Amino acid sequence: MHNPYNFKDCPPRHQTGSLKWDRYPADVLPLWVADMDIETAPEIIEALKKRLDHKVFGYTIPYDSVFDAVIQYLERAHNYSANREWISFLPGLVPAINLCCHAFANEDDSIMTATPVYPPFLLAPKFAERELISVPLCLNAEQEWTLDFPAMEKAIQPNTKIFILCNPHNPVGRVYTKSELEQLASFCTRHDLILISDEIHCDLIFDSSVKHHVTATINKELAERTITLMAPSKTYNLPGLACAFSIIENPKLKYQFEKTIRGIITEINCFGYAACEAAYNFGEPWRKALLSHLQCNYNYLKDFLDTKIPQIEFKPMQATYLAWLNVENLKLEKPAQFFETHGVGLSDGTPFGDSKYVRLNFGCSKDRLAEALERMHSGLIKETIIGNDQ
Ligand SMILES: Cc1ncc(COP(=O)(O)O)c(C=O)c1O
Repeated sequence: MHNPYNFKDCPPRHQTGSLKWDRYPADVLPLWVADMDIETAPEIIEALKKRLDHKVFGYTIPYDSVFDAVIQYLERAHNYSANREWISFLPGLVPAINLCCHAFANEDDSIMTATPVYPPFLLAPKFAERELISVPLCLNAEQEWTLDFPAMEKAIQPNTKIFILCNPHNPVGRVYTKSELEQLASFCTRHDLILISDEIHCDLIFDSSVKHHVTATINKELAERTITLMAPSKTYNLPGLACAFSIIENPKLKYQFEKTIRGIITEINCFGYAACEAAYNFGEPWRKALLSHLQCNYNYLKDFLDTKIPQIEFKPMQATYLAWLNVENLKLEKPAQFFETHGVGLSDGTPFGDSKYVRLNFGCSKDRLAEALERMHSGLIKETIIGNDQ
């Protein structure tokens, strides 16, 4: 099938103020932070150009057509009927997670999450001076990562007030089933927890046999205690435009959240809103093409590792462009540093909660992924970590 979109050539990003590229010298291919080397959808570029042509960039408040785009997207994509009053626009999920730790737990309370996980989940409770309880994920019978409910029951304390969920789960790429979320709902209700549900990767599911369930749709009781966090930023590669939103059905929780963010969170910029609206209204064909591209890259990565570096263990994933690779068998003292020396910038697993892993971002062209994998492979051969026979 002809693909009308450009997932092949990305403009040079080195020395453009890119967090991803400017961390390393020019000879290192960065495959770390969750930012794709892929141009955003042409429909979004058009909307941004139109906004730019207006030539006045005043303070911007959320306007009707942005609310409509978000509400219609939630209904269409996730079968979630949200009211406009439940939605607050935010410059990012990370500030929202940090603020939730202040809003819904006191200093002598604790906050639980499941590791490995996106590092700000582990930092936010610490920054707020709340105790962090991290419970490792486990593997189910199908060798997929899942929440370890018996371990969570063991670890929970009377002062635990919040559970922070990542679904789909960064970095393991798992999409939780309805039944797993029902178990989580029962856990949160029984222990009277507030659920912060980070669903930023929910439109990046490339495995067509699985479906995302918005956690707040699991049951009414759970919806009453859930803060849902979403954004078009990961899906449409717009993280620099800083436009995200929360959905809080319970007016008491929404009031508490808004009281905490007052005077701290700024207005979203006009380009963030314009991109968000265009992404949800017109971005679907591009998103579908992106998912096929990610599926091809995922298959390529899996085949490459299976055949050339089978020492790296890699569990099946269903979503995201972030692969969680177990490099323990390579016995590298500092795995991320090793690969950086050989020309590939990966995320070190330690801040996610497991130093035996590295995370690889395959949101780039197939050629760039292939080049990075070749560099990793030849680096391992050169240092005689693996043999030359694969
Ligand atoms: C699970 C998760 N939440 C949040 C973010 C970042 O959100 P934001 O850029 O809106 O702060 C990321 C980025 O990688 C992520 O993976």
